[in-house]
This record gives sequence, structure tokens and C-alpha cells, in this order.
Amino acid sequence: MQEKTLTISFLVYQNLEDLPAKDRDLAKRAQDSQNYSYAPYSNFRVGAAVRLENGQVIGNGNQENAAYSMCVCAERTALAAAQTLAPDQAVHAIAVTASPSRQLVSPCGACRQVLHEREVVQNQPIRVILQGAEGQWLVFESAQLLIPFPFGPENLKA
Ligand code: THU
Repeated sequence: MQEKTLTISFLVYQNLEDLPAKDRDLAKRAQDSQNYSYAPYSNFRVGAAVRLENGQVIGNGNQENAAYSMCVCAERTALAAAQTLAPDQAVHAIAVTASPSRQLVSPCGACRQVLHEREVVQNQPIRVILQGAEGQWLVFESAQLLIPFPFGPENLKA
């Protein structure tokens, strides 16, 4: 028997202005993208913005539905919009924000799974910038850090 331990490291910034310029700009675009949110049921307005390899930024918000289980998170609407508008561009980073929230805006398991597959397909990491608790911001070098033991295309191989 072996015991193995996984550790992850990430950066914590105390406020938005402390973030490196590129991350800060993307975080602000994610905040702006809350305007695209359609969240009449939860009133939890999430905005996500992705930065592509050519520098283009595409944002979107969560899209809810009266059939609650059909709600789609902002991370996935932003990624889908990017795929439509710039299908040949790798995603370099994603920022996720929400209001009203003083808590960590933590991507759900489904979004982590989708981010993981995008990393696999483009063979490049996606930097993840999250609105943290109490005005902090968390930065992860790769979405992979958020989903240990993901299920991906490689797991379908015989
Ligand atoms: N939501 C997101 O859009 N992203 C997240 O990271 C967490 C949750 C949405 C789904 C739903 O519309 C609302 O927030 C409340 O769960």
C-alpha cells in the first residue's frame, strides 16, 4: 500500500488592483460580462471572460431557465461563444466573477470538466482567475489544478 498526496499551489491577491495587468483586465471584462447574465431564479449573476491566444476577449453570463436543471454556467456560455466566434484560437485564460457575492466564485464540477477537456484538445493550459472571498482574487496556472483525476478523452481509450 502506498499513500500519495496531491498538493496544488495558486496565487492569492488581496484586491483587484494587485493582479497583474492582463489578469486584472480579464477580471474586469468578466465583471462587465455579468450584464449578459440571465438569472431570474437564483439572482446570482455570474460573468466569465476568456482571453484567446490572439488577445481577443469574449465574455458571457450564466443563462438560467424555468426548467432549472437546464441552467448553463457563465464559464460554459463564454467558452461556447469563443468556440463560435474564434474556433481556431486556443483559450489562454478565463476569469470568473459574480454578484452579489463576497464569497469565492468557484467553478462547478461540470465547468471544471469542460475546462479540462479544452486543455486536452488545445494541448495548452488555461489560466484561471477567480473572484475570491472578501475582495481577494485567486489565480491558478492551469484548470487542471481544479480537477484532480478528471475524466477525459484519454479515459475512453481501450
Ligand atoms: N453558476 C455559474 O454560472 N458559474 C459558477 O461557477 C457557479 C454557478 C451559476 C449557475 C446558476 O445560474 C447560478 O450560478 C446559481 O447556481
